[in-house]
Formats: sequence, C-alpha cells, structure tokens
Amino acid sequence: MTDRLFQGQTALVVSASRGMGYAIAAELARQGASVALTARDEDALRTAAKTIREDTGARVLPLTAHSREKGDRRAAVDAVMDTFGRLDLLVYTTGINPALDTPAIDLDLDCCRRMFDTNVVAALGYVQLAWRAWMRDHGGSVLMMGSAASTGVFRMPAYSATKAALHRLTEDLADQLAPRVRVNALAPAFVRTGFMDAITSLPEDTIAASYPLGRTGDTEDVAHAAAYLLSPRASWITGVTLPVDGGKSVAAITHNRPHPPPEQPVH
Ligand SMILES: NC(=O)c1ccc[n+]([C@@H]2O[C@H](COP(=O)([O-])OP(=O)(O)OC[C@H]3O[C@@H](n4cnc5c(N)ncnc54)[C@H](OP(=O)(O)O)[C@@H]3O)[C@@H](O)[C@H]2O)c1
Repeated sequence: MTDRLFQGQTALVVSASRGMGYAIAAELARQGASVALTARDEDALRTAAKTIREDTGARVLPLTAHSREKGDRRAAVDAVMDTFGRLDLLVYTTGINPALDTPAIDLDLDCCRRMFDTNVVAALGYVQLAWRAWMRDHGGSVLMMGSAASTGVFRMPAYSATKAALHRLTEDLADQLAPRVRVNALAPAFVRTGFMDAITSLPEDTIAASYPLGRTGDTEDVAHAAAYLLSPRASWITGVTLPVDGGKSVAAITHNRPHPPPEQPVH
C-alpha cells in the first residue's frame, strides 16, 4: 500500500514533462500531493499531466514555463497559489549541459553563463518566489536536482561547476531558511533518460559495469529518494546532498590504468 505522506499538500515540480522530474511528480501525486508541473513543450507537458492524473487521481496542473525566464517563474508560482492556495514542496530539476564535454579551456563563456543561469540562478529565483508566496509563513520543503558530476572530474567542466554551485547554494539556503523550510539536494549518477543519452557515448553495459551496484539508475530510484527527503520522515535533515548513484562515489580507484587522453570517451 502506498503511504500518503503528502496528503493535503501542494508540490511545484519544475521541469517535469519527462525524466526524473516526471517520476518525482508522479511519486508525490501517488503519495497524496496536488502537483503542478512545468516544462517548455506544452503538448508533452499536457500529456504528462494527464497520465499522472489518470494514474493517481491527484489534481495536476501543467504550466508552460521556461525556467530561465523570470516572468515565467513568477507566473508559475502565481498559478500554483491561485489554483491550490498553497505551496508546500518545491522541486527544482532543470539542468542543461549544452557544453557537453568541451574542455574548460575551449568553453564558450556565453554558454557557461546560460548554464549557470539555468542550473543555479533560476533555482534560487524559484526558491525566493516560493518563500514569499507561502513558505516564509507556513513552512515547506525544497529539493534541488544536483549531480554526482559536482565532485571529482567527469570531464564536463561547465556542467560540474554549475552543479557544485547548486550544492553549495543548498547548504546556505538550508541555514538561512531554517527552521521553517528544509532544503536538500540529490546527486544522481547516470540515470536512464534522454539527458543521459545526450552525454554518453560508451555502451550501456560498459557504463553499468563501472557501478558497484552493477547498473545505471532508473528514474524511480531518484523519485523514491526525492519523496523521502521532501517528506516529514526527513524532518531532521536539511542542507544535505544525497548521492543516488549505485555506489559510484565509493567505487574503488584503480591505479593500474594509464591516464586516458582527452579525446577518449570517459562516459
Ligand atoms: N539523467 C542523468 O543521468 C542525470 C544525472 C545527474 C543529474 N541529472 C540532472 O537531472 C535533471 C533532470 O534530468 P533528466 O535526466 O530527468 O532530463 P530529461 O529526461 O531530459 O528531462 C528534462 C526535463 O526538463 C525540461 N526542461 C529542459 N529545459 C528546460 C527549461 N529551460 N525550462 C523548463 N523546463 C526545461 C524538459 O522539458 P522541455 O524540453 O519541454 O522544457 C523535461 O521535462 C537535470 O538537472 C540534470 O542535470 C541528470
């Protein structure tokens, strides 16, 4: 039987028409929350909302919004308040990596700025809006979608820098919004989505074999961790970044392999 830990609560899941955001939104709806979803593509968003509504019976509100657009963020939060009258849970999952594995020395700086704007600054923008609209007076819980790529060298320097910044921001927000609001993050390693397909060039089996738990992640793996951190079961946890990574962060370092040249795929 499904726990209904979020009965009577409202969640805004930013970037949730597919992938991990979708899985998190569906899990929160399954556990009793009313859910608002954002994405840019209206058709995909409406289809996602319909599926969650039919599967869970929850109230689901699709909101077309580009995370980087200040006006879209405000309109999304206003729509949640107008429709549901509350905003208990904020999940920020937008993350882009147009730079892919471009070496740091060759990175286009405008591209880097766009990535920081989307992956970090917009997350802060949503937190500020949610705080003023509801959480400052009524409390709440925030979850950021970080990445295992924030620590160590994944040869995606711009992306890694944005996710490291997001993890640091999570800690300061947790300090400054306590005790009313908890702020945590997830740090997934590879999870099978379109986003992963765009980054990886090695065969799935090769990647899976590099994980102590022998496989890459499912979106459900992430959704369950997200629901836990957002829920009252984690009521004494704030400011953490939880690895959801099949043990990748504790995989043994091998000393018997040569340093791979920059052009050799590492993921
Ligand atoms: N998959 C992995 O292996 C992995 C690992 C670690 C961390 N992550 C992080 O997890 C997050 C989600 O990744 P995913 O794998 O679930 O991706 P995904 O399956 O490609 O889904 C991306 C979602 O984000 C939306 N989106 C993209 N750009 C947007 C924007 N500017 N404004 C609003 N919505 C936008 C997309 O819809 P539209 O295109 O219609 O806007 C879609 O709903 C990202 O932050 C990523 O960095 C992924």
